[in-house]
Amino acid sequence: MIGAVYPGSFDPITYGHLDVIERAAQRLGHLVVLCTRNPSKQPLFDEAERRELIEASTDHLPSVQVDAFDGLLVDWCNAHGINVAVKGLRAVSDFEHELQMAQMNSHIGGVETLFMTTRPVYSFLSSSLVKEVARYGGDVSDLVPPPVAKRLAERFG
Ligand code: PNS
Repeated sequence: MIGAVYPGSFDPITYGHLDVIERAAQRLGHLVVLCTRNPSKQPLFDEAERRELIEASTDHLPSVQVDAFDGLLVDWCNAHGINVAVKGLRAVSDFEHELQMAQMNSHIGGVETLFMTTRPVYSFLSSSLVKEVARYGGDVSDLVPPPVAKRLAERFG
């Protein structure tokens, strides 16, 4: 069993993320879902809300733990004795940036990245599009876990 971290901004967590979490946890053993900050994105939900929604969506998974951190992923990994990160790949378009981040994390912190392809049924899914659909009153109930759908409905009224 390898302990691994699944980092992301999770703004908010979607069924695409959850699918990767379930499949990775089953194969790698202990998995920490790390709610962290992407400096190139302005989040809709604050860190506490994003973390709470991840916890509510993963409470059926005993080998999954949730943490939050605002800093370098490699610093969190080194502080927690974890040197494997898991990332989901939806399409070739994800790959270029993910490859750069994986090589940077390996270079600066010795953290190696394992890529897991998302299930095709979720390949179109992103937190950004979910927020856009929800903002204009669209139905996102088959795209995000129920606590997330509820929070989006509250936020966008
Ligand atoms: O879900 P996202 O927004 O695609 O995830 C990107 C994320 C948050 C994993 C990435 O921005 C990140 O690792 N942020 C933490 C800061 C860091 O370590 N930056 C250097 C990355 S090489």
